[in-house]
Order: sequence, then structure tokens, then C-alpha cells
Amino acid sequence: MTMSDAAIVVEQDRRELDLIDRVQRSFDNCTDPRLKELMYALVKHLHAFLRETRLTEEEWTRAIEFLTAVGRITDDKRQEFILLSDVLGVSMQTIAINNAAYKNATEATVFGPFFAEGSPEVAMGGDISGGAAGEPCWVHGSVTDTSGNPVANALIEVWEADAEGFYDVQYGDGRTAARAHLYTGADGTYCFWAITPTPYPIPHDGPVGEMLEAVGRSPMRASHLHFMVTAPGLRRLVTHIFVRGDEYLGSDTVFGVKDSLVKDFQRPSTTSAPGGRSIDGPWSAVQFDIVLAPAEA
Ligand code: BEZ
Ligand code: FE
Repeated sequence: MTMSDAAIVVEQDRRELDLIDRVQRSFDNCTDPRLKELMYALVKHLHAFLRETRLTEEEWTRAIEFLTAVGRITDDKRQEFILLSDVLGVSMQTIAINNAAYKNATEATVFGPFFAEGSPEVAMGGDISGGAAGEPCWVHGSVTDTSGNPVANALIEVWEADAEGFYDVQYGDGRTAARAHLYTGADGTYCFWAITPTPYPIPHDGPVGEMLEAVGRSPMRASHLHFMVTAPGLRRLVTHIFVRGDEYLGSDTVFGVKDSLVKDFQRPSTTSAPGGRSIDGPWSAVQFDIVLAPAEA
């Protein structure tokens, strides 16, 4: 007996749904309820993707090859899986979920691969550039809680790319430049010299870069300066500030830009700069007032 076209469609559907059900039920004996929840949802959404796109076997093979290449290039210095998560917006979505909006607290953004432990300390008003190429930039502001109380002695870690578009760690010669840490004063304020941020591409010589190329996307990030701010009893903040007017604000390849983090970088026309410094060429100045949410928020 041959099945009608309609019956064939019903049978195909039944087979596909039955498989999902069997795979989900394979986790029934999992004793960790959170792990079980995650595995159920993962199977549900993975199979929904396969069924919605009617993925071909060739496409799945290509996807496996891609993920294999992502794994092969990953080592203790290069994390291509995080890069993949970044360009797919997964990092930013996880950050949004885990840094819930709270009153006027400063928004978080992507961590990126170029933070390094053990940065040098600079004094208030000191220079983080460490000889990195770039235009001087005076960065100043305050750290407060959401009620406006100053946070004294907050740890501020900052890092950025140089004017060539590279972080110190990318040179592979052991240099430390354009990264440092400092502490807020008793009134919660801070200030330091850095370099005016410029745009640069994420590492795009691997499979993630190939994928961006294949889909016609640029690897460029909007110009930014990274901050990580830590203080007892308050939620640690990982964020950046971006340069108003930057050409990549609307197309940052890791979706890190938030309107609230785009700042005016002033262009003073005087040669006399903060801290008694005299600067002949162009320089910039930016204010970034940081508001930390309570740790439990
Ligand atoms: C960065 O800001 O340096 C960065 C962030 C995500 C991926 C690659 C680079
Ligand atoms: Fe960066």
C-alpha cells in the first residue's frame, strides 16, 4: 500500500519529532536539574534550526569542518571559539543577560581577548601608554554607586590598542604598553593619560575571519578604550568607551557598542594640558563617569 502525499508529510514530521523526543528523554536521568534544563533546550533549538533550514548533509559536513578549524587554531594565546561567540553576538547577549539593567548603572560590554593580568600601576594623573604610538588622550571621571555616593579606592584596569591597531600582547616581544591600573581617590574621582582610541580589526586570519569574508562583513571594531572596574560590594563592571563620530559605531563586528558608552572626545586647542603637561600636537580629552550597581543586583 502506498501512502498519499499528505500521509507522507505527516510521517516525515512524526519521525523528526520522535527523534527530538527520544534525544530529550535521554537526559531524563540527569540528576543535575540545571544541566538537564540546558540539554533539553539545546536539543530543542538545535533541532529546530536543522528542521527550519532543512540542513543538507554537505552543509553539516562543512559546519563540522569549520568548527574543527576553530578548534585547531585555538591555543592558550588565541581563543577562536570566543571570537566566534563575539561575532555571532552570543558574548554580548550573555553579558546583557548577566548584567541586568539596574537604575543608572553603567552598561557592560564585551571583554575581548586582550586583557592581561598584572598590568603596571600608574599614579593618579599618570600615563598608561608605556610608549605605545598614538595621540595623547586625557581620561577623567568618577566612580559612584547608583545613589551617587563616591566609591573611593575602586580598582580601574584599562587597556587599548595602539595607533597601529595592535595591543601590546600582539607584538609577541614581551612589551607592556597601553595598559595599566589605578585606584580612585577618596572622592571617587580618577584621571590618567592614555592614547586616543583608533579603529582596528579583530584577528581575522583564521576561520572566523573567513566566515566574516564569506558573508560580506567587516572585521573592524569601533575605536574604544577598555575598562574593568572593581570595588567591594559592587558589581564588577567590564566595559569600554567609544568615540563619538567614529565610522564603525554602527557596524562594530562584535556588537559591543551601546549608545550610553559613546563619549565626546574633546579636542582642546591649547598646548597646556592637564597635569602641567605641554603638548605641541593634537590631543583629546574625555570624561567617563562610572556608576556601579550593587553586587547582588
Ligand atoms: C577587543 O576589543 O579587543 C576585541 C573584542 C572582541 C573580539 C576581538 C577583539
Ligand atoms: Fe579592544
